[in-house]
Amino acid sequence: MKFKRSDFPRDFMFGAATSSYQIEGHSFGGAGPTHWDSFAATPGNVVRAEHGAIACDHYNRFEEDLDLMKAAGFDAYRFSTSWARVMPEGRGTPNPEGLDFYDRLTDAMLERGLKPCATLYHWELPSALADMGGWRNADIAKWFGDFTEVIMGRIGDRMHSVAPINEPWCVGWLSHFIGAHAPGLRDIRATARAMHHVLTAHGTAIQVMRGLGMENLGGVFNMEWPIPQSGSEEDYRAAQVYDGIYNRFFVEGIFNRRYPETVLEGLEPHLPHGWQDDFDLIAQPLDWVGLNYYTCKRIAAAPGTPWPHLSEHVGGLTRTQMGWEIYPQGLGDFVRRMHRENTGDLPIYITENGMANNDHVVGGEVNDSNRIAYLDDHLTSVREAIEDGAPVRGYFCWSLLDNYEWSLGYEKRFGLVHVDFESLKRTPKASYEALRLALSQ
Ligand code: FCB
Repeated sequence: MKFKRSDFPRDFMFGAATSSYQIEGHSFGGAGPTHWDSFAATPGNVVRAEHGAIACDHYNRFEEDLDLMKAAGFDAYRFSTSWARVMPEGRGTPNPEGLDFYDRLTDAMLERGLKPCATLYHWELPSALADMGGWRNADIAKWFGDFTEVIMGRIGDRMHSVAPINEPWCVGWLSHFIGAHAPGLRDIRATARAMHHVLTAHGTAIQVMRGLGMENLGGVFNMEWPIPQSGSEEDYRAAQVYDGIYNRFFVEGIFNRRYPETVLEGLEPHLPHGWQDDFDLIAQPLDWVGLNYYTCKRIAAAPGTPWPHLSEHVGGLTRTQMGWEIYPQGLGDFVRRMHRENTGDLPIYITENGMANNDHVVGGEVNDSNRIAYLDDHLTSVREAIEDGAPVRGYFCWSLLDNYEWSLGYEKRFGLVHVDFESLKRTPKASYEALRLALSQ
């Protein structure tokens, strides 16, 4: 790597992130069914209909995985808790095995000197709640609050930080408008409701955790830097709409108590009645904000098509295994913008950043030099933003392990550590070693 730890401010936190359904192995430990299980079982939704039943078998191998975290020299581990593992029916009686698992996982982090940074929900909604409309049902805020109470009642005393919901855009737009993630809907009304309820659920969970006396609570948002496809006024405006839906809606809801006009234009008729009155709940004060960043997107106007009247394109920059263009300056630009327009002096964390690569083990090693370059370039962009005065306090790589990349199955490898999905053997990649070296200096 081009940097060493001492190039970053004192106490700057380095970590890696994962999520429950992507690594744990959902068939273990009495977890209930989720909408990802049924989504994956439906032909055409997921590459080779792959699912998370075994995943990385982290449920049984978490000690080995945390040893890898520690040996890399990381300070913190960003993990998530599975709602259906803790409450198989989504509501009602908790599953003792599930609670015990997160209890053991927490203690295993602390034993290794890793700060536990939890996300309460990273997408595996219990099927019983999906049956009742899932994120479309306004009651989900209450259901989510109850889940928060149960899981944080057990491990909340030992968390370094907590965010309720990973990437509201994915929960709302990607899953209900584009239909690429569970529950795979393509309906603007469902989308508007899900997007609003994600925020009422977020606010409810924050209230519950404050009630438990917890501190250091935040929110995690994913962003994609929009670039107009041409210099035309129409494409510029289309990029602004995209920016509103993707990058501004949730952050402005929480930090500015409003939704962007460009988005209300399309969604307002479909928002739940009285949505304007929910900002007291939504805008609970937070202690930090997390940004997940991977790429940029080219946007063109698509006149004659329904709102949002735009189309997405891919430009000419180098692409990752996901087909995502590599655009490091977008990360620093988002950090600066968030600091300026939304969060002021609130600490900012990069809670996910990384790339998928077609990695292979050759002679016991994985040469992922392009991942090393990707991380280097994005960390440089972060450092430049810090020099400009943005209060960035930490950076988490996505991901520790190759894992279940949702509708793209196990083919897209994001890990610093390679996983052989037959033998489940872990092999640290060259990027893992490079980071280890940089962090030790
Ligand atoms: C993010 C998700 C994470 C993973 C990465 C590649 O949107 O939070 O689970 O899929 O993208």
